Amino acid sequence: MYVAQPIEWTDRGVVILDQRLLPAEEISYTYTDYRDVAKAIREMVIRGAPAIGVAAAMGAALGVLHSSARSVDALAAEFGEICGTLAKTRPTAVDLFWALERMKKRFTELTGHSSDLVKIKQGMVEEAQQVHLEKRAIDEAIGRFGAEFMPREGHVMTQCNAGALATAGIGTALGVIRVAFEQGKKLHVFVPETRPYLQGARLTAWELHKGGIPLTLITDNMVGHFLKTANVGAIVTGADRIAANGDTANKIGTYQIAVLAREHNVPFYIAAPISTFDLSIPDGDHIPIEERAASEVTHLQGVRIAPDVHAAHPAFDVTPARFIAAIFTERGVARAPYTDSLRALASPAQAVKV
Ligand code: MRU
Repeated sequence: MYVAQPIEWTDRGVVILDQRLLPAEEISYTYTDYRDVAKAIREMVIRGAPAIGVAAAMGAALGVLHSSARSVDALAAEFGEICGTLAKTRPTAVDLFWALERMKKRFTELTGHSSDLVKIKQGMVEEAQQVHLEKRAIDEAIGRFGAEFMPREGHVMTQCNAGALATAGIGTALGVIRVAFEQGKKLHVFVPETRPYLQGARLTAWELHKGGIPLTLITDNMVGHFLKTANVGAIVTGADRIAANGDTANKIGTYQIAVLAREHNVPFYIAAPISTFDLSIPDGDHIPIEERAASEVTHLQGVRIAPDVHAAHPAFDVTPARFIAAIFTERGVARAPYTDSLRALASPAQAVKV
């Protein structure tokens, strides 16, 4: 089945598919400067929590690879700047910070063992590639756990895009749907368009269509209607950050879907890697919510659709844990009380080699 490739490490540089242009055009750029990778993350050339993490890891490796530093100390100072620049791109998806921490840890290991700059650079490139490989294996595992919860046939729903484009693997929420579909479950997916950035209409509809999975595209204000009338068996979305108590930040609009799901007795699931957990914060009130340009609300693909008035654009919202039936991860399924189940899954003893 078709799997989109949003990012790839190549000998020429980091190749990133411009998701802003989908589905009209499939254009990729090759990046050789980490600052341009940071800009690509900020401007949503690449988006989706795990894919942002992969881009940050590759950006960090790119920065080290092309550094002209002549000593480990000079390289370390530059690496600090590289990580700082990449960290300032998008605030909500914790995968970004997870990936940078992982690259910092590897940098410390490499520089602790050797002062050979060529070896250090090579080690950092390998680590970024390893992050990408692991993301792929993680998605497959999430997909297998989550597919069990999908109905044998009938309607399911998602939100935003948590597919291959968003993870650089097979996707988290869409990975679950994809694995269930490949297992022979006859699913039909309701895809809310996900205003204002239209990740549902532009990206999820594109991925499902290319993968041969039946779908119905709906506008965001149709969700209640279809949950009431269309016998939806499950809803599964991705996540950008999951607090210790299970409160989950995901694309704006997810919260209202979860509340409507409760009203209509439809199980609402989250599919996300452990790297999306942020156990350092007790609940969703501590999750920073990215505020994006109001012009993304007043304009649609560059065309003004509203008068010149104040408009708000929080890019994410937080779904309280009590609306979440289960969280699918690569190490298994977390259930309430999440404070216990998330901590258990995150413990190193649970770690699986992927
Ligand atoms: O603003 P975006 O497009 O980066 O937001 C993406 C989402 O909210 C996704 O649902 C989330 O990152 C999970 S991706 C597997």
